[in-house]
Amino acid sequence: MVENYNVIEVADSIFWIGANDRETDKFEGLLDLPMGVAYNSYLMRGEKNVLIDTVKSSFMDDFLHRLTGLLDSKPLDYVIVNHMEPDHSGSVDVIKRLYPDVKFVGNAKTVEMMKNFYGLEGCTIAVKEGETLDIGDRKLVFAFAPMVHWPESMVSYEPNLKILFSNDIFGGFGALEGGIFDDEVNFDWTVYETMRYYVNIVGRYAKPATKALEKVRKLDISMICPSHGPVWRSDIDKIIGLYEKWSRQETDEGVVVVYGSMYGNTKLASDAIARSLSMSGINPVQIYDVSRSNISFITTDIWRYSGLILSCCTYNMELYPPMAGLLRLLANKNMTGRHIGLCGTYSWAGAALREMSEFVEKSNGGWTLVGPTIEIKSRPTSADIEQCRMLGKNMAEIVKNKHSK
Ligand SMILES: Cc1cc2nc3c(=O)[nH]c(=O)nc-3n(C[C@H](O)[C@H](O)[C@H](O)COP(=O)(O)O)c2cc1C
Ligand SMILES: [Fe+2]
Ligand SMILES: [Fe+2]
Repeated sequence: MVENYNVIEVADSIFWIGANDRETDKFEGLLDLPMGVAYNSYLMRGEKNVLIDTVKSSFMDDFLHRLTGLLDSKPLDYVIVNHMEPDHSGSVDVIKRLYPDVKFVGNAKTVEMMKNFYGLEGCTIAVKEGETLDIGDRKLVFAFAPMVHWPESMVSYEPNLKILFSNDIFGGFGALEGGIFDDEVNFDWTVYETMRYYVNIVGRYAKPATKALEKVRKLDISMICPSHGPVWRSDIDKIIGLYEKWSRQETDEGVVVVYGSMYGNTKLASDAIARSLSMSGINPVQIYDVSRSNISFITTDIWRYSGLILSCCTYNMELYPPMAGLLRLLANKNMTGRHIGLCGTYSWAGAALREMSEFVEKSNGGWTLVGPTIEIKSRPTSADIEQCRMLGKNMAEIVKNKHSK
């Protein structure tokens, strides 16, 4: 057996052999990982030995000890490559060196990427949508999930045990802390980290995600084994339902206020808007300083709640750069059905409000503007603060109306 390592059998002869990364600070170099992230890999032991996905190359050590220990000199026959992003495919070239006869199973797009990323050719099997791979006493059926997260993304389904290996879908941030199943971990926190993963990684592809979920709904599922976060065995319907909700861009009642301010004048206006939202009955009002909170937390709440207020200063003839960065990311997400209010500040030649207004215009109706649109010179006057109160009140009314239906 695997000496010194916990053997985690998630189902009959199916082992979790992933890696818990508590060292990477930012996923994809952008998204904070306060509690790390897990790269899940599963070994299906039987007449044929099959590995489902691998781990990021810098976390190969524990993974290879578990893999070689569990195989105990037996061959590894197949590696299912559900997704080529290197957090999952990162160890394939080393596996090929350890097990020269192994076959990598993906689709036509995977085959090309295996060559481009790892120089691996002639050892790949390209399956088609719905194709079954017979692996001795077990079977795996493949369904493509293009753009959730990359063009080659797919999921694998084991029909005897009714297990879905869903890769990025249903995955979340956070390394596994002892608990491996959804009923062994802090559920609310796990759902939040799964939503944060969804919004930041999958969010732009909400439409393809909806198509993938239609396929998932047709399967009889007893367990979902994603490639990040815990294995879902108790709350399968709940997590599929949440994923459907996020993909439909259905929002909760609440308003997010994001401000960019260097010397506090814009912050004053933002606080006035926030107070007015709260006094008009909005709960929660989530306030973020765009310079201080990691973008992944801000976008998650923006995705979640119906209303957004942006208030920001002008910086060297442009919108303050951290806010410009946020807007660029938001524009990329193709969000729809949202309401937005704007407040720009300046001292001699304003650009903040103009650039934020352009963001709204370019959303093609994805964002509906709520007035009054406010522009403040240097420090808010009492008339400006009155405008801020009006904006908070108007936004609150719209959001509350939306959710009372
Ligand atoms: C480094 C720097 C650059 C600025 N660039 C501009 C500018 O190009 N145009 C403008 O009208 N105001 C500019 N401002 C002024 C601010 O946008 C304005 O004072 C605003 O009210 C500041 O709000 P704050 O106190 O929230 O930082 C600049 C301020 C600083 C500190
Ligand atoms: Fe991915
Ligand atoms: Fe991933």
